[in-house]
Amino acid sequence: MSYTVACVVGARPNFVKIGPILEAFAAQGSAVKPLLIHTGQHYDEEMNDLFFRQLGLPKPDINLEVGSGRQGEQTARILDRYEQWLLTAQPAPCATLVVGDVNSTVACSLASVKLGIPVVHVEAGLRSFDRSMPEEINRILTDAISDLLLVSEATGVDNLLREGRPPTSIRLVGNVMVDSLQKHRAIALQLDTLNAMGVRKGEFILWTMHRPSNVDQMSTLGPLIACMVRIAASIPIVFPVHPRTEARLKSFGLWARLEAAEGIKLASPLGYLEFLNLSSQSKIIVTDSGGLQEEATALAVPCLTLRTNTERPITVSEGTSTLVANDTVLLESLVQKIRNEGHQGGRIPKLWDGKAGERVCAEVVRFLEELPAKT
Ligand code: UD1
Repeated sequence: MSYTVACVVGARPNFVKIGPILEAFAAQGSAVKPLLIHTGQHYDEEMNDLFFRQLGLPKPDINLEVGSGRQGEQTARILDRYEQWLLTAQPAPCATLVVGDVNSTVACSLASVKLGIPVVHVEAGLRSFDRSMPEEINRILTDAISDLLLVSEATGVDNLLREGRPPTSIRLVGNVMVDSLQKHRAIALQLDTLNAMGVRKGEFILWTMHRPSNVDQMSTLGPLIACMVRIAASIPIVFPVHPRTEARLKSFGLWARLEAAEGIKLASPLGYLEFLNLSSQSKIIVTDSGGLQEEATALAVPCLTLRTNTERPITVSEGTSTLVANDTVLLESLVQKIRNEGHQGGRIPKLWDGKAGERVCAEVVRFLEELPAKT
């Protein structure tokens, strides 16, 4: 028996998660035939093509080419185009597999479930309990309509049970991003990225931010940039800039200040391998990215997280992350403390072992085998 499963990706963090899953599906004897569906949410060379090449992902079977847009507009376009594809696909997939929490995740889940095609959500159950985040809405809605919920950390299981999801649909499988990280780390470390950036191992901060809550208003972005400039006077900061952040920095007149600041190494969005090279060898990571909080934990690098909450609490309770929100005084003092006293590291969470992709595959097969046959 062979099952066709439509595997959906749209944005950069999805690419990192789908790699290990596709690899497990492609293994000899696998009962799953994956079809890779790209919604086109991210499309730039740096945000998209470079990741596909470096992660060794196959060319998508289908590209829905939705591009950028307002939240509702982009989500609606994905929903419409994915539904149209599902209606004409031959053979129709047995299931749709979605990962993470981006607009592509919720839109394709909704199109699929309405056509009676079951949905598998990888990275289910994470909750920040902050409904002002577009990703939190995507998570809640996707989990409410998914048939198989594959979870990366134990709090996700609790959240899903509390929301009334059936226990039989929930499985703790671990973190597929860690599979990618383990697989590519040695290759990443062979690159000459430190030299290219002009920094030395263990003597720089890696800083990223792109969340609307941090970058969309001058009243939050301005103080964060002022803080970055102050810190960079004593330790270099590598700052790969997301396109959304670059646009805001330019419109608020902050870009020239960053270019002129000593110790700040501005970069375009980096490839997966160059980024992993830097994150593995940085002294401290400062970020508002959920994925990077997890990677910092997996790499045992201290992470100062520019958010008031996190949907990945294990990165705080067991890992290396500390929530600093946009409290720049706290941020500067913690940078100083880590530089003076070092950092204790943390524990690697359960099932973050490089084998999550295999467990996803096993659960998907079991789920499909148990589905009642369609007449
Ligand atoms: C999206 C995800 C976010 C994830 C992030 C990783 C949602 C709601 N958000 O946010 O969870 O952490 O991806 O990057 O799905 N742009 C480009 N080139 C591209 C893609 C986007 O220049 O290839 C610019 C466009 O101006 C676009 C803006 O970035 O309007 C935002 O892109 P979008 O995909 O809407 O959201 P992200 O901020 O990237």
